[in-house]
Amino acid sequence: MRQAKAPRSKAGPPVPRRGPGRSGWGAMGRPCYGRRVPGASGITEEGRERTRTLVRVAGLLRREAVSLLAATALLSLGAVLALAYPQGVRFIVDGAIAGRDPAELVRAALLLGGLSVAGRSILFMLAGERGVRRVREQLFQSLISQEVAFFDAARTGDLVSRIGADSASLQGLLSTYLAMALRHTITTLGALVLLLVTSPRLTGLMLLVVPAVALGAVHYGRKVRALGRRYQDAVADASHVAEEAFSSVRTVRAYTAEALEVERFGAATGAAYQAARRRAIAAGTFMGAASAGVYAAAAAVVGYGGLLVARGALSAGALTAFLVYTLLVAMSLGGLADLWAEGMRSLGAAEKVLALLDRVPAMPLTGGARPACAGAIVYEAVRFAYPTRPEAEVLQGVDLSIGAGEVVALVGPSGAGKTTLGALLCRLYDPTSGAVRLDGRDLREIDPAWLRGQMGVVPQEPVLFSASVEENVRYGRPGARGEEVVAACRAAHAHEFVSAFPEGYATRVGERGQQLSGGQRQRLAIARAILRDPRILLLDEATSALDAESEALVREALARLMRGRTTLIIAHRLSTVASADRVVVVDGGQVVEVGAHAELLRRPGLYRRLVERQMLGA
Ligand SMILES: Nc1ncnc2c1ncn2[C@@H]1O[C@H](COP(=O)(O)OP(=O)(O)OP(=O)(O)O)[C@@H](O)[C@H]1O
Ligand SMILES: [Mg+2]
Repeated sequence: MRQAKAPRSKAGPPVPRRGPGRSGWGAMGRPCYGRRVPGASGITEEGRERTRTLVRVAGLLRREAVSLLAATALLSLGAVLALAYPQGVRFIVDGAIAGRDPAELVRAALLLGGLSVAGRSILFMLAGERGVRRVREQLFQSLISQEVAFFDAARTGDLVSRIGADSASLQGLLSTYLAMALRHTITTLGALVLLLVTSPRLTGLMLLVVPAVALGAVHYGRKVRALGRRYQDAVADASHVAEEAFSSVRTVRAYTAEALEVERFGAATGAAYQAARRRAIAAGTFMGAASAGVYAAAAAVVGYGGLLVARGALSAGALTAFLVYTLLVAMSLGGLADLWAEGMRSLGAAEKVLALLDRVPAMPLTGGARPACAGAIVYEAVRFAYPTRPEAEVLQGVDLSIGAGEVVALVGPSGAGKTTLGALLCRLYDPTSGAVRLDGRDLREIDPAWLRGQMGVVPQEPVLFSASVEENVRYGRPGARGEEVVAACRAAHAHEFVSAFPEGYATRVGERGQQLSGGQRQRLAIARAILRDPRILLLDEATSALDAESEALVREALARLMRGRTTLIIAHRLSTVASADRVVVVDGGQVVEVGAHAELLRRPGLYRRLVERQMLGA
């Protein structure tokens, strides 16, 4: 079940993108970093890609340049102070032996050090958070503008973590990591020079160890990066399992599948743990070896240094300073290794974020003609397969024309393609071939936002937002006044139950409207469509969850609403269908019968069979 990744990455249509050389769906879940170009020198290509990513991230954070530069200056000051520190130690040790008072020096150093640390951390954090906020907003804007097919293929959890954790690590890349790397480099190089000045012979001894540690660090960095990616993927899988279980908790409970879900989650966290374990072992082994090397070097330096002091070739203060410098070098190198691993991880995250930021929606939100709308609809040899399942043709050559103001009922067996016909009319998808026309114009020439502005849709599974009743209804027309909202609710026969709530229109409906009954959700969705006052109405099983009496009332309200508007009613119930001007029977992705209810009843065909079944059942 968890295997959905591979088909998903193949499924998408080719999508134009601004970014260089990425495939449209590579942007989605599975990481596209670390790819190597076959044949070519992979590492340089990878390096170039990373440089490009860094440059892009720098571009995103350029408005914080002043803060970041100031913070970097303070950080460099800190590095210089750290380098001066052992000299101070030397001064104090040798001075104490000679009987001098170091209080002035200590005070000045502490003040300067404290201020620089406070200043830089505040500057970095604020600049970083501002940058992250902008990236998050841009990313959300980019994501919400993607075509519907993109969301069919995406995992919500993945998108959410792009906006959350991945965006945050983008900020770390440029601010903290680069600055800390700079600081560690200054410290390492400076300390090495000062080591040489203090005692060339001891330095030579110490340098025997450093290259080995450095090489190990590079190797370790690579390994940890690869293992880290695997770990992150595994964690994402686990979150996905959890998310799915929580959002379908009613189904889980009804089928007493808690243990099964726990097991699934356990398997997912198990995979994450395996990846983490390998990473821990790789990291631990390296750190163990490195610190053994460092201790050995320190022991050798102390031993040899002690000998030099005893011989009078080195002062006690100089040896102390030397040891502190050695410690500085070790810490800075260790810091650099950590930063490297961390930075690589963030680069991976940044690449995913950038890929999504750059993604050009296959279908733009706006742009195109905004003609006057009479409301005549024509489906012309429409063939269609969902992009996520390109091999299954859902509509197989649909020809259908609906006059302006006509009320047409779409009926047919489940899975016939009725909802899909509606989705094409809203231009949630484009036909694979053929065309859908509004007043003779191909929908692809029309501004999609304008088009959707002409339509009121009551979907088969109406979804409400976790907001108040009023806000949910007002979604149909954001500028609507309070009285208009109430009037729409009255027309949809929702006013009675809404005003029976203690909090009335301010009642919160819960996530996806879960705190309402199915019929109540439907009536609010109808109120939303009524409030929109559209040219074209699309009612997909809009009253299916209502009892016969409520349905009759709502139907009467809808009949009033439909007057003069082109209406597509998708319904199974005979009572709803019979009132339509024409009935269109869809089966297996094709229109099989068209005609008035009475006329179709006279013919032996699918419609008559469907109706007879229902009469028998009723
Ligand atoms: N988002 C999607 N991605 C892939 N396939 C889909 C998607 N939505 C629907 N389908 C498939 O398209 C076919 C037609 O579905 P559609 O929802 O249009 O049927 P319907 O006529 O509305 O049925 P019902 O009466 O049950 O609502 C079905 O086989 C379904 O599995
Ligand atoms: Mg349907």
